[in-house]
Amino acid sequence: MKGLILAGGNGTRLRPLTHTGPKQLIPIANKPNILYCLEDLRDAGITDIGIILGNNMPDMVRQLLKDGSDHGVRITYIEQGEPKGIAHAVGCAEEFMGDEPFVVYLGDNILQGGIRYMVDEFSRGDMEALVALTPVDDPTKFGIAELDAEGNLIGLEEKPERPRSDLAMVGIYFLRSSIFPIIKKLKPSWRNELEITEAIDLLRRETGKVVARKVRGWWKDTGRPEDIIHANRMVLAEMKGKVEGTVEQGATLEGEVTVGEGTLIKAGSVIQGPVIIGKNCSIGPDARIGPHVAIGDLCSVVNGEVESSIIMSGTTISCSKRIVDSLIGSGCVIESQQRKSGLRLVLGENSQLRA
Ligand code: DAU
Repeated sequence: MKGLILAGGNGTRLRPLTHTGPKQLIPIANKPNILYCLEDLRDAGITDIGIILGNNMPDMVRQLLKDGSDHGVRITYIEQGEPKGIAHAVGCAEEFMGDEPFVVYLGDNILQGGIRYMVDEFSRGDMEALVALTPVDDPTKFGIAELDAEGNLIGLEEKPERPRSDLAMVGIYFLRSSIFPIIKKLKPSWRNELEITEAIDLLRRETGKVVARKVRGWWKDTGRPEDIIHANRMVLAEMKGKVEGTVEQGATLEGEVTVGEGTLIKAGSVIQGPVIIGKNCSIGPDARIGPHVAIGDLCSVVNGEVESSIIMSGTTISCSKRIVDSLIGSGCVIESQQRKSGLRLVLGENSQLRA
């Protein structure tokens, strides 16, 4: 079986962060989202992987993943260019897939517990497609599946106005080459995209051999800042701490805390796990970090409080306000000595905030 990860699209809902890179590279617990997808494929035994590249700085994806050997996989890059829809992206991979069955993984999705059980089921069975489902609070925002009383799939609809269930299609699709002629028949949807949901529903009607399975762990589509912050919380909650840097006497670490090499936690700081802090950072002397915070490499947090947030590499914070539920890009400077309310920020790369 081969794999296909989608790293195209515009990421408009994540601007300004996607002005300086593809959304699939945004770090969750200090690891780019796309690496979670790649590792899920690899850990399920899928090592021949195509990566769909869009036109929003695709070279950053190539620079990160290279030929895949660092991660134990072999990567083939496939250029989609303009985002004409998920089905269009899959269609671009026709030559790469040949006659092999394959799994498509949206590069801005993250799933707990991997995909091996679904890979095993799809490899054993004679179905033409397997879609993965999970219940969601707002079914109008996803592809939605309808099942009959026995659990058989009886319909799929993309972002329905009147959803027939709360079962969303997660962005993981098991397919065969039978999908390609169907994709060629599709017409652009109301959002001007070739919809994979429509393609799989057509395949279901033509063959009667499409099955749906609920995923076992939690799942998140990281398309919006609040989703990324939520995913960061979920991943951190499962991490074990490891201290490789230096913790001065008088600094307090509670719960699961990871401190990277070359990082100094100064006396007087309190780190409340789960927290991950990258390499070569300086924290304190008067900082309170956590819970649920990921801080990238080369950051400095002098004072203030940071909770439930992602701070990307090279950012400096000297702020007496509480920073909460925030997504802060690389190379930012945040300075404020006014002690008033807290701050909730989404800041693009190299932003400066002084108050
Ligand atoms: O996340 C699950 C949902 O993903 C499903 O429930 C929906 O049925 C499915 O249509 C999709 O909905 P989104 O609106 O969230 O898709 P989005 O445009 O965010 O694209 C998903 C990923 O695919 C993202 O990593 C970007 C990539 N992509 C997207 C398009 C439209 C491409 O690589 N090329 C494209 O042309």
